[in-house]
Amino acid sequence: MRRILLVNGPNLNLLGVREPERYGLTTLPELEALVAGWGDTMGLAVTPFQSNHEGAIIDRLHEGRTEVDGIVINAGALTHYSRALYDALVAVALPAVEVHISNVMTREEWRRHSVTAPACLTTIYGRGIAGYRDAMRALVNLTTAPPQTLGYGAGEDEVMDLRVPDGSGPHPAALFLHGGFWRGEWGRDTIDGLAVDLFERGWLTANAEFRRLDRGGGWPVSGVDVLAAIETLLAHPAVDARRFVVVGHSAGGQLALIAGEAASQAPSLVVALAPITDLAAAHAEGLDGGVVERFIGGTPQSRGAAYDAASPLTTMARPFRRLLVHGDADTVVPPTHSRRYAATAREAALEVHLIEVAGGGHFDLLDPRRPAWVQVCGQLP
Ligand code: DQA
Repeated sequence: MRRILLVNGPNLNLLGVREPERYGLTTLPELEALVAGWGDTMGLAVTPFQSNHEGAIIDRLHEGRTEVDGIVINAGALTHYSRALYDALVAVALPAVEVHISNVMTREEWRRHSVTAPACLTTIYGRGIAGYRDAMRALVNLTTAPPQTLGYGAGEDEVMDLRVPDGSGPHPAALFLHGGFWRGEWGRDTIDGLAVDLFERGWLTANAEFRRLDRGGGWPVSGVDVLAAIETLLAHPAVDARRFVVVGHSAGGQLALIAGEAASQAPSLVVALAPITDLAAAHAEGLDGGVVERFIGGTPQSRGAAYDAASPLTTMARPFRRLLVHGDADTVVPPTHSRRYAATAREAALEVHLIEVAGGGHFDLLDPRRPAWVQVCGQLP
């Protein structure tokens, strides 16, 4: 993956003035410059294109067929009805990622459906302009090590991206659980860089999706999904169940620690990166605009038992190894979540190790090139 065609469709030339409360103040030229800069950091050369005309976009995709290695596309409203654009994406047979600035899942009903998405590797939405950066990252990860998507339940979010090393196995296996405060707009792409890295180190990796807020999830559904994903993975013939690790970031760290307690088999290790460990504290701290109340479906006063059941701090009991990693400069999930969990686990004589990353922020832990991840890899069974 070297050259990317960045396509913006109808009305995106008006970025910065068009409904700024929804699409932000960044103009199209500014967006294109940002995307070029992000591309540089990923070794990608980005060619931008914008048009308000379906045919012009299709012509540009056709030209791109021999010019570029991948496509990032925000087709605007064409997303929702242009079968011609779907056909063009299929025809050029280039890996593509769809992106939307706004949260299309919480707007009008007709915006929830994309006719072009089935021609793309994945869709990223509701993250503002940063979604374009994430789209490029997803394009790199999904083409560097193409996964096989395996269902563990009936719904479109009850899936995991599996990467199985060559050879007969069985292989040590890791299940990844992404963060994003259980919100629908944050998906497994955010932790996929770690999954690809561990796969390249010889592990079988499963990057799990689960139902989230605005997509049928919440407590306990999201937790139940994670348990189902673990059972499906453990039943996979290439998995060495004696070397089985769960890795979660942020809200995914909460899900990972909880799943370690409840899965049919205790993992060899749970790695919790900047985890939320105390839901009542997270509620009191107002994390991510008070999202905990939505996730649990009430306040600590009205749903105390659910807060306890969903809090790693109050559920820890099982003797498995726990590794917590937290940046001491994390302003998204305070490091006290990991410190208190580690102290309580030690008091309960559970095996726990806490790495505090000096000056580390919340998202640094998702970068496989950082020393923290290399340290984690050194701790794996
Ligand atoms: C959009 C969402 C579409 O529904 C809309 O028609 C757009 C922009 C987005 O980026 O959020 O034009 O693609």
